[in-house]
Amino acid sequence: MNTIKAAVFASGTGSNFQALIEQADLPCEIVLLVCDRPNAPVIDKAKQKGIAVHIFNPKDYQSKGEYEKELVSELKRYQIEWLFLAGYMRLVGRDLLEAYSERILNIHPSLLPDFPGLDAIGQALEAGVSETGVTVHYVDAGMDTGPIIMQETVRILEEDTSESLAERIHTIEHRLYVQAIKHVIKGVQ
Ligand code: GRF
Repeated sequence: MNTIKAAVFASGTGSNFQALIEQADLPCEIVLLVCDRPNAPVIDKAKQKGIAVHIFNPKDYQSKGEYEKELVSELKRYQIEWLFLAGYMRLVGRDLLEAYSERILNIHPSLLPDFPGLDAIGQALEAGVSETGVTVHYVDAGMDTGPIIMQETVRILEEDTSESLAERIHTIEHRLYVQAIKHVIKGVQ
């Protein structure tokens, strides 16, 4: 049984969340899903696997500090050491960054620093570039700006639509996130 505990932060479909929880040899145990959208499909995926879910609505709080302080105490209650962002669509604030310094990873569907922020796949298609990719990086206070851990390139085909490109990118994401998590956890052991 793994003893290092981790949480995934996700607000959408949750294909990366699913890939992580189904990975048999991950060097940590995903014990909590944190979700800021009460209707997100990822919540059902967690429930089906019996993984605890912390759902919050940022609109119910006065400030980021207020909900992040609550989050930090919840994460500590589960003895969580690592946070993996996978489609958590908001900037991480000071409280989480201080509590989990160099322990927060994010996955982004482009070769950062190109195409940060929303709809990175659409941005790449719009720009007409011949390749894009996937990046796993440490999270800092900026938008997709933290130190890069791993990247993998994906060629853009002439016939690609955003759906076909997203499908290839997701397949790589599911593998690359696992690789990056293994790499960083091994690095601090
Ligand atoms: C992924 O493309 C990830 O790179 C980005 O958000 C998307 C989440 O997809 N940060 P899913 O919900 O894991 O399917």
